[in-house]
Amino acid sequence: MNAYQDELPRTTSPARTFPVGFLWGAATAAFQVEGATTADGRADSIWDVLCRRPGAILGGHTGEPAADHYRRMREDVAIMAELGLTSYRFSVAWPRVRPDGGSVNPAGLDFYQRLVDELLARDIIPWVTLYHWDLPQALEDAGGWPHRDTAYRFAEYADTVYDALGDRVSYWTTMNEPFCAALLGYASGEHAPGRAEPRAAVAAAHHLLLAHGLAVQAIRARNPHETVGITLNFAPTVPLDPADAADLDAARRIDGLQNRLFLEPVLRGRYPADVLADLAPYDLRRHIRDGDLDVISAPIDLLGVNYYLGYTVSGHPDPHPPVSNVATPSPPGSIWVGAEHVSFRRSGRPLTGQDWEIYPEGLTELLMWLDREYPGVPLYVTENGAAFPDTVRDGAVHDPERTEYVLSHLRAIHTAIEEGADVRGYFYWSLLDNFEWAWGYDQRFGLVHVDYDTQQRTIKSSGRWYATAIANNAVG
Ligand code: FCB
Repeated sequence: MNAYQDELPRTTSPARTFPVGFLWGAATAAFQVEGATTADGRADSIWDVLCRRPGAILGGHTGEPAADHYRRMREDVAIMAELGLTSYRFSVAWPRVRPDGGSVNPAGLDFYQRLVDELLARDIIPWVTLYHWDLPQALEDAGGWPHRDTAYRFAEYADTVYDALGDRVSYWTTMNEPFCAALLGYASGEHAPGRAEPRAAVAAAHHLLLAHGLAVQAIRARNPHETVGITLNFAPTVPLDPADAADLDAARRIDGLQNRLFLEPVLRGRYPADVLADLAPYDLRRHIRDGDLDVISAPIDLLGVNYYLGYTVSGHPDPHPPVSNVATPSPPGSIWVGAEHVSFRRSGRPLTGQDWEIYPEGLTELLMWLDREYPGVPLYVTENGAAFPDTVRDGAVHDPERTEYVLSHLRAIHTAIEEGADVRGYFYWSLLDNFEWAWGYDQRFGLVHVDYDTQQRTIKSSGRWYATAIANNAVG
């Protein structure tokens, strides 16, 4: 009996089969897995620099060694093949490709050429994310995302990557979670570049969107038929008391920032009126030039949906703030620009090891909402996953909570598909345990355990279970 069979969910319900061609994937991001931060001409990104700031990252962890994926890429692709992944979503590191934001570094590009070739040799479809938060520090020194020029540098970088990989990569996403890049990076300061400047964050939000649009243009200029889109992160948000005006207003504001600020410009060519009003004190309008929204809303071929949790919010202070046993980063500012007073409440749902509420039904709701409100755009769940404190015992990792987590979210997706939503793939976050940003290495999200001292990989029981789901194109 395989070590994982004892946890295969026992159910009498018929198998939930996914559509033919549904992508079964896993995702990573360059800074979180690659390590080798000074190899082959790579220069500092904003994350290398933030990691050197005392107190910025739990445990003082840095991008070294991460999962040493830059050197172990072939071994990692072999693991993907063993799991049966049909697609792999990875990001390209801008500071490898254009280390100072300007001139091209062929040695950095070469790594991604080899990665793509290796994936194709194993029948795994490469899915590229152009920006997963590692802005070259040289561009931050020139003003970073609050500075409009950065968007044009991004389009040049996108063109360089497309030139190198465009003939072999089928799926392109410009940005991963611009919400986090703008608001965690420039408002709360929890993420790089660690600036707590709400006005700068609002400018960054617009310029990230502009960069997306310019990159879509750059790619279409080379190939008008390319499949290209963007990945946004969503959190269904409800008021603690639906009869309380302050709670309702809190939910509207958080929903606006988290779910609509980026979505509406991309898919409707306009900022939501209420969010524009909320952000008026931070001068959002000042950055919007004639024609920007046309660039930002150029048609896309897919929307990447990252989903982890939902929010229950109140406009009143929390009389009993929850006490957590989990060490959490303490950012210098608030992420919620214009909604700093809002308190986040527990709904009583079960928690992951990182204290994130587990809410699979929220994913069904979200996919149905997107399909209803923004029809005609194929949806891919480009991230979903959970951290638990995994340990290796006798050469194995037994993580039934993660299996249950993935199963429940796949069921939620299946329900949305049955109800008519056009969902075409699922990427578990993450293939490997990795550097979880301000949380350092303590939060383990992988289907594959990484021992950071030896770089030994161990497929967790959840990874084995996921392989059976892929093989069946179905879950129970
Ligand atoms: C997402 C990020 C990803 C990872 C997961 C846990 O917001 O895109 O890099 O950190 O959260």
